[in-house]
Amino acid sequence: MIKLKNTTKYFRVGFFGIKKYAVYDLSLTIEEGKVTGFFGPNGAGKSTTIKMIVGLIHPSNGIIKINGYDSTDYRARLNLGYLPENPSFPRGLKGIEIINYYSKLLNKKINKNEIYDALKLAGIFYAKDIHAHKYSKGMTQRLALAISILGDPEILIFDEPLSGLDPIGRKEFKDIIFKLKERKKTIFFSSHVLADSKELCDKIAILTGGRLIKNEGIAAIEKEAEGYTEAKLNLSKNRERTQGTAKPEQDKDYLLIAEYSTPLEIYLYDLMRKNKKN
Ligand SMILES: Nc1ncnc2c1ncn2[C@@H]1O[C@H](COP(=O)(O)OP(=O)(O)OP(=O)(O)O)[C@@H](O)[C@H]1O
Ligand SMILES: [Mg+2]
Repeated sequence: MIKLKNTTKYFRVGFFGIKKYAVYDLSLTIEEGKVTGFFGPNGAGKSTTIKMIVGLIHPSNGIIKINGYDSTDYRARLNLGYLPENPSFPRGLKGIEIINYYSKLLNKKINKNEIYDALKLAGIFYAKDIHAHKYSKGMTQRLALAISILGDPEILIFDEPLSGLDPIGRKEFKDIIFKLKERKKTIFFSSHVLADSKELCDKIAILTGGRLIKNEGIAAIEKEAEGYTEAKLNLSKNRERTQGTAKPEQDKDYLLIAEYSTPLEIYLYDLMRKNKKN
């Protein structure tokens, strides 16, 4: 449904306009009806990739196709909802006025009930008559989510949908993603939180330094992760036995295992750490 082929994005920076690569030669297929998690450290190029998919910026090289349309073509966005990173809204408008405005930008007629349903699903209906500049971060995030699902699009692109939410908000947001997943939506979301991966994702893509280092189904990755963690734990135990010095509690591999609760998290963390360039 969404295909990125050898996509590169660079920005020209500084007085001499030197090329700064944010995404490099990225080929990725985002499968229809699946949830794909997009992970990577700060500055990895996740938001840049997402902005290219939704057509806010254009690739320097390579192509992106959405339902067969180039991402630069308006038709690519007709069935697509986007939740940006750190959304914000103009002062002086109520939540309901903002979502009404966005509903008019869509290519289909959205009635009042549909707007209410989106607000209810996003859990912000109760605050629709409050000015949005009085919203908390989580409330703002919810209004942006309601806007992104207006018109019931088949493709949903969320840039860090869970950031800045309290534990209850996170749980509720995840439940919304589950609901959308049940409706067979194609969901592509970025996150820093490795623990989100197993719960939500069918597939995981990892980006570091603008390059894709992993793109696999969750079952395959989990299998790799279990083998990896077991080997790591054995290494830690062996070091303790042969060197006799480091207690397991002081061993950095052991500490890492203690800090993260699942093999998948440990594996993903290590993958990112090893490939991190900046
Ligand atoms: N308009 C721009 N001009 C110059 N450099 C940019 C621009 N936009 C992004 N970059 C650079 O591209 C790289 C990738 O940024 P991007 O925002 O895509 O990262 P990210 O993976 O979303 O990070 P985070 O997890 O912090 O949100 C960074 O080094 C950033 O400074
Ligand atoms: Mg980002």
